[in-house]
Amino acid sequence: MKLSPSIETAIHTYANSMASANFYLYDTAVMKEKVKRLHQVLPAQVDPFYAMKANPHSAFVREANALEGIEIASIGEAKKALENGITAQRLVFTGPGKTPAELRWSVQSGVRTIHIESLVEAHRLENICAELGQTQDILLRVNANFDIHDAQTTFSGGSRKFGVDEETLTDVLPVLMGLAHLNFRGLHVFAASGVLRVQDILQNCRFVFAMVKTIEKSFPVRCDIIDFGGGFGIDYLETGQDFDVVSYAAELRQLIEDYHYEDRHLILELGRYLAADSGWFCSEILDIKMSRGKKQLVCAGGINHFRRPAALAINHPVCIIARQHKPLFDAQVHVRDERVYFGGPLCTGADKLANDVYVASADVGDIAVFGLAGAYGLTMSNTLFLSHPKPAEVVL
Ligand SMILES: Cc1ncc(COP(=O)(O)O)c(C=O)c1O
Repeated sequence: MKLSPSIETAIHTYANSMASANFYLYDTAVMKEKVKRLHQVLPAQVDPFYAMKANPHSAFVREANALEGIEIASIGEAKKALENGITAQRLVFTGPGKTPAELRWSVQSGVRTIHIESLVEAHRLENICAELGQTQDILLRVNANFDIHDAQTTFSGGSRKFGVDEETLTDVLPVLMGLAHLNFRGLHVFAASGVLRVQDILQNCRFVFAMVKTIEKSFPVRCDIIDFGGGFGIDYLETGQDFDVVSYAAELRQLIEDYHYEDRHLILELGRYLAADSGWFCSEILDIKMSRGKKQLVCAGGINHFRRPAALAINHPVCIIARQHKPLFDAQVHVRDERVYFGGPLCTGADKLANDVYVASADVGDIAVFGLAGAYGLTMSNTLFLSHPKPAEVVL
């Protein structure tokens, strides 16, 4: 991984201002560019939303203001979105296990659509709406009988807690249509996250369009809105193969024409693709040791601050910023042109930041920088474990 001179300078500056350097650096210029590009290339019917679970920091949410809206999965996210100037009308609420309080708040606040995950949730929402004397636009989330095998995380196919199984639609839709306060607007089908191959993600779009067609033939419903969820991948392994939004957009445009769906509103809820390359996790190397033939580097922060690599068993790109600290003793171990293991300070073997990665040079006191850490970084980490202070989040 090669850092730009401005990012490298910023990391140096912030690291030198801290006793034990351990922080996230965010520069959302890349996210801004990506938002612009999506607006340029996507068909007019397609609106990208920001899935703020990827990074709920204000810097990212404010950048998302340039989008149609934000996908939220809790009332906590909703409140952060509102604090950053996004109105409730621009929020779509997804995710299993929404509480009655969250549903009530959403209806009262005017959240645009609530994405129904089960019949229990549908009835719960119906009762709340009836009590409030309001109707609510909803999408039905479907667990399609389809999956993308080699995605990092899959959300459909097989037995899931997400949505209703596709095979049960013939039973579920009539029930939903009988709930007087719920206004059915369409479907939400999210197949997988971290998908790099455009054809894989388009396969989901094809599958969903076919599903919509079947449903509309069989039931007196119309899917005005079709939500494909998120999923655009990021090249963590630095293979040089980024998700190609231009060919995605071109093929989706063709698909829309083939199905005559020019009058439908298509939604994307993008998290990783928008946020990942706008953040770096920077952590001081506090110790280096050789243990039974493997070089172990211990950083100031571990899975308490950056859990994603361990959770998904994937290395993020790493580079080292040298700081020329004087060794504490003559035989102090360093790294020169070799493969090493990075971990944090936690008392668990699971505390791994990167495994078996090549490092040209590293010394105690240097900063290990983990790239593509803007998405699912601090937000999915075990921050309470061992009660270390939370890392700073520094915005350029
Ligand atoms: C409902 C929903 N939408 C969108 C996303 C964002 O996915 P991604 O980061 O792959 O774009 C997720 C991720 O878990 C999700 O659960």
